[in-house]
Amino acid sequence: MGVRECCATFLAGLPNPALPFLPALVMGTSFAAFFLFMFYKKYTNLPVKVILIHMLKKIFYLLPTHDHSESETCKNPGCVRCKKYEELKTQIVQKMKEIRANKPEFISQQLEDAVKKIEYESSPFSKCELDDEPKKKKSNLELQKPTLFYMELAANPYWNDFEVYKKELGFLKLNFSIILKDFMSVFNALKNGDNWGWKLNDIDNGHWCIFPFIDQGRMNKSNSQRCPNVSAILEALPSLMKDCVFGNACFSILYPDSHIEPHHGPSNVRLRCHLGLNIPDGCWLEVAGTQYKWKKEETVLFDDSFEHSATFVNQSSSSQATPRAVLLVDFWHPDITSQEKEVLLELLAP
Ligand SMILES: *[C@@H]1O[C@H](CO)[C@@H](O)[C@H](O)[C@H]1NC(C)=O
Ligand SMILES: *[C@@H]1O[C@H](CO)[C@@H](O)[C@H](O)[C@H]1NC(C)=O
Ligand SMILES: *[C@@H]1O[C@H](CO)[C@@H](O)[C@H](O)[C@H]1NC(C)=O
Ligand SMILES: *[C@@H]1O[C@H](CO)[C@@H](O)[C@H](O)[C@H]1NC(C)=O
Repeated sequence: MGVRECCATFLAGLPNPALPFLPALVMGTSFAAFFLFMFYKKYTNLPVKVILIHMLKKIFYLLPTHDHSESETCKNPGCVRCKKYEELKTQIVQKMKEIRANKPEFISQQLEDAVKKIEYESSPFSKCELDDEPKKKKSNLELQKPTLFYMELAANPYWNDFEVYKKELGFLKLNFSIILKDFMSVFNALKNGDNWGWKLNDIDNGHWCIFPFIDQGRMNKSNSQRCPNVSAILEALPSLMKDCVFGNACFSILYPDSHIEPHHGPSNVRLRCHLGLNIPDGCWLEVAGTQYKWKKEETVLFDDSFEHSATFVNQSSSSQATPRAVLLVDFWHPDITSQEKEVLLELLAP
């Protein structure tokens, strides 16, 4: 093709200058978006849905939003959680390869999309893409933002008003006094200076301690033996999330003058339950902007992949005040099928 023909072809391809500005702009933008999309698809081989989400995110990142990023940044360079979660991504990708080869019929589209997203994020191409992303900004529309593993599942900040796990929550409430008795024995020991089995969580403001029975999927044998009735009760819950790195069960105490900054859980495959054990005035949970005041002997079920925080206001004589105490129990998201659970237990083994 000669230079003249080439120029003629190029000029012919441009939008007609006689077109008013707006239609020309819309046409030009649509063409650009289409080619960008095709290029993305060819390069990443991701499902259309995932690409659209990525592109929308890019657009929303450009809009100014309220910034909660402080709470998202872990200040501990040797954090086991961060390190563990990096290893977990590699594990997920590796195990999925085996599952795809051995039992592809078990893999639902939701699961496939969830793993593809991780594969994409850990490929070198996407690494540089992600580094470009202004991570510090995020849209208010994205109050649900699991940090590690996302599946397309029904999403509600609070699940109390849904007929979900009524039996299991009822069972916890029925056993309240037995659970409280086990709690008081280890809490009194802590008050007397014996912190055996307790773990202090690092927060900027105040004190937050847990006594784990299941810690990131692993049974804590010594703590379970110290509270045999609580372990028996946990064992009796069919939908308890165990043997999965996202599953936890523990006593959790929060002292006055404490604030757990807004943050997101690692995954939406779990729902988190708190059974109120000791609930003083002046403390509350907040999920996706809605506050909930814990109640003694009552359960609250919530999706901690939504932005959430916990607050216990400052008190004048905090040495006198008792901490807020709950039994925390993680359940599987109710929409996860038994086949998906089987695959997830392999992918997310602790
Ligand atoms: C708790 O468990 C222990 C040991 O199994 C048992 O002796 C005790 O009676 C239980 N307590 C209650 C309140 O059920
Ligand atoms: C149980 O949890 C406590 C607190 O994190 C820890 O010190 C202890 O080593 C754990 N025990 C087991 C058997 O995992
Ligand atoms: C929990 O409550 C149920 C129902 O009241 C009861 O059958 C069961 O024995 C209790 N569990 C324990 C460990 O006491
Ligand atoms: C509560 O106390 C902490 C220190 O314990 C302080 O940093 C924080 O600003 C106080 N908050 C209020 C609202 O007084």
